[in-house]
Parts: sequence; structure tokens; C-alpha cells
Amino acid sequence: MQIIHTKVVIVGAGPSGLLLGQLLSLHGIDNIIVELKSAEYVGQRIRAGILEQGTVDLLRASGVGARMDEIGIPHDGFELAYYGKRFRIDLNKLTGGKNVMCYGQTEVTHDLMEARAEKGLATYYESSNVQINDILSRHPSVSFEHNGTSYRLQCDYVAGCDGFHGVSRQTIPEEKRTEIERVYPFGWLGVLSDTPPVNHELIYAKHERGFALASMRSPTRSRYYIQVPSTDTVDQWSDDAFWEELKKRLPKDCADKLITGPSIEKSIAPLRSFVCEPMQYGRLALVGDAAHIVPPTGAKGLNLAAADVGLLHKLLCKVYVDKEEHQFTRYSELALERVWQTERFSWWLSNMLHDFSGDNTESMEKLLFDRFMNAELSFYLSNETGMKLIAEQYVGLSHVEI
Ligand code: FAD
Ligand code: PHB
Repeated sequence: MQIIHTKVVIVGAGPSGLLLGQLLSLHGIDNIIVELKSAEYVGQRIRAGILEQGTVDLLRASGVGARMDEIGIPHDGFELAYYGKRFRIDLNKLTGGKNVMCYGQTEVTHDLMEARAEKGLATYYESSNVQINDILSRHPSVSFEHNGTSYRLQCDYVAGCDGFHGVSRQTIPEEKRTEIERVYPFGWLGVLSDTPPVNHELIYAKHERGFALASMRSPTRSRYYIQVPSTDTVDQWSDDAFWEELKKRLPKDCADKLITGPSIEKSIAPLRSFVCEPMQYGRLALVGDAAHIVPPTGAKGLNLAAADVGLLHKLLCKVYVDKEEHQFTRYSELALERVWQTERFSWWLSNMLHDFSGDNTESMEKLLFDRFMNAELSFYLSNETGMKLIAEQYVGLSHVEI
């Protein structure tokens, strides 16, 4: 068994783990990342596309903003299409100059992996049997196997950045955590294609047939989504069937000019609202999807993960640079405040934009919900105060100051 000493062990090399590693290293705090999958697999996962202002600022501050600033596309607004009518949310005007950046998670991950490799920082990809030990003691450790060797990383703190299915959250005894969850009865079928985007800004479309989203990755690469029942599988959806259904749900002028082509990726993502309380136990902090999931409607998953990282890194700087050890214990309470605000926005937007009729059985509850959500959406879109509330939340709430 190889025993290695470090300050912080980061479990998971998704965007949370890589960004935390980058920020800690900038402040001279040693860290090692342990990841289940291969570097190639991690680098190719297709997920989020929109970065909030706070995420953009954090990436720049961590020294990996150059490529984002070069090829990312700033978006000053987006559209909500509501049974064919189009409303533009002018983010820039409504928030006093803020915007979002269209830059894929795949690119963020690539930039962070490259920066880590350049610095020669240790990352154990393709590790198995990852276990967190003695987390209530002052000397926790993480053990795993890698390339046929057993390792034990002896550390001060563990950052659980291993996503929804990781081991970190399970390390907190069941009776010490509360998991609050809603699973939606539908998913998003997503298609990536090398075709020009149908519009220069994103369009979130509400339609009787279900929700649709027109997004993009570059001027020549589009990302589209449609709401599908959670029982659907990818093989049930040929490219032609996808494009046909998307055209039905987009506003007519967009559908008429939609350019279609072969999909280069097609997948179904389930929709879930989930929070684990607390987000910290002993010397373990849960970060990003390990602690919470939001439905993707407000483009918040990755951004919320980045906000957790921003906070945890500041607290760990207090611990190591200012020698204020107690600061670590503030993490859960401070993080959860913003987490719940973001969960609420993603849930609210999902409720308003999706079709919940599902199995077509009519009940008074379903009718009421449908009518209330239509009224809610048309109310918010009918006045500037309503649109401002949407805009402020879409560009993202400020990161927590400590
Ligand atoms: P993850 O990206 O899940 O990274 C966790 C890492 O930990 C992974 O590399 C994993 O392999 C590793 N790991 C897991 N278990 C272990 C273990 N036992 N030991 C070591 N390592 C482990 N958000 C949006 O805003 N817009 C979207 O369109 C969008 N689409 C999504 C589609 C899918 C299918 C999913 C799953 C998520 C999507 N999200 C989207 C959410 C967004 O991608 C996540 O919020 C973001 O990836 C969170 O980053 P993370 O680093 O916390 O977790
Ligand atoms: C994406 O481009 O993948 C994307 C954009 C906005 C969302 C969700 C996903 O709300």
C-alpha cells in the first residue's frame, strides 16, 4: 500500500473537483484528485452550455478564462416562447449590464484538465474502490486502487465532488442526513448537431406537445432538447423523429428555418430536484451534484456547483492562510442558503414551461396546475418587474461573501 500525505483530497474530476483543485493550487494548498473514470471519458461528457456571470468571473480568477473569452459567446438575452408567442428577456437591460456566456461544460472541463496537467498536479484517473475513512477525526483519509496498487491518501479535509451517484454523500450516516427530492415524470432528450443554431439566442419554448429548448455551442454547432416521458429510451427516437417533433414545438418562424442534420450525440437526461442536508459532515464537504441536483431548465447545475466551489475555496483559504480552522464548519449553512434559492428558481421555471398532463388522465388537480402555471407565466411576461425577476435569477444570484 502506498501512503501519500496531502492537505485536501478531492473525490471526482468533474467541473467541481477540477475547479476546486485549480483554485486551491493557486493559493498554495496541496490537493490530489481521485476519479473513477478515464481522462478521455471525463473530457468528452456533453452536458451544460450556459455560464452565469459569477461562474465566468470565477473561471477567469482561477486563470482558465482565456479560451472562454476567445471562443465563448456572450448572450445579452434569451427568449421564452409561449404557445407560439415570443418574449425576449433582455438580460443586459433588465439587470443593469449583466449577461451569461454560452460556453460548453466540455470546454470548461478541457481548460481545467489542461491547466492541471500543465502544473503537474496529481490526478488518479480510473481509480476503483474509492473509500473515505475516519471523516470525524482530525486525520481522515481516502483509499482506492489504481493500476493494481492500493493507495491511502492521508489528509486534513475531503471534498466530495463525485456527482449524484458518488460515494461521498453515502459516507454521511443515513440518520445524519436528510435527502429532499422530487423526480419529474419526464426527461429531456438532447441532440447535438453540426448545424447552425436556429436563433442567435436561446429559445425556451412552452407548447401543448411539451417543452423544447433551442441552444447552441458555437455558430456551427447546435444543441436542442425536447421534453419526453421518462419511460422513453434513446433508441425510440430516430434523428428524423426528433427533428419533426422539435419543429412542432418551436415557434413557426423558427421551425420554418431550422436546419437539421445528423446527430453527433443523443441522450436522455432525467429531471430531478434534490438537496442533501447538511452539505458537510466532520471534515467532509459535499460540492456540486454530490449535494444537489436541479432540473436543467434554468441552466443552473454547473453554475451552482461553481458557486459551492467558490465558497469552499474561500473557507479553506481562511483555514490555511489565516489559520482560522473553525471556518470550515460554516460551509453547509452558507452554501444551503444559495442552493435553495437556485432550487426554487429551477423548480418554478420547470413547472411553468413543461407539460405535466403525462398519462392524459384528467383530474381537477392537473387542470388547476396547468391553468395556474399558464397564468403565472403570462403574468411575469406581461410587465417589466416580472421579466426583471426572471432576468436577475437567470444571470445568477451573487456568490456568498464571507
Ligand atoms: P459531475 O459532473 O457529475 O462530476 C462528478 C465526477 O465524479 C465524475 O467525473 C464522476 O465520474 C466522478 N465520480 C463518481 N463517483 C466517483 C467515485 N466513487 N470516486 C471517484 N470519482 C467518482 N446542467 C446544466 O446547467 N445544463 C445542462 O444541460 C445539463 N445537462 C446535464 C445532463 C446530464 C446527463 C447530467 C448528469 C447533468 C446535466 N447538467 C446540466 C448538470 C451539470 O452537468 C452538473 O450540475 C455538473 O456536471 C456538476 O458538476 P460536478 O463536478 O458537481 O459533478
Ligand atoms: C445547453 O445548451 O445544454 C443548455 C442551455 C440552457 C439550459 C439547459 C441546457 O437551460
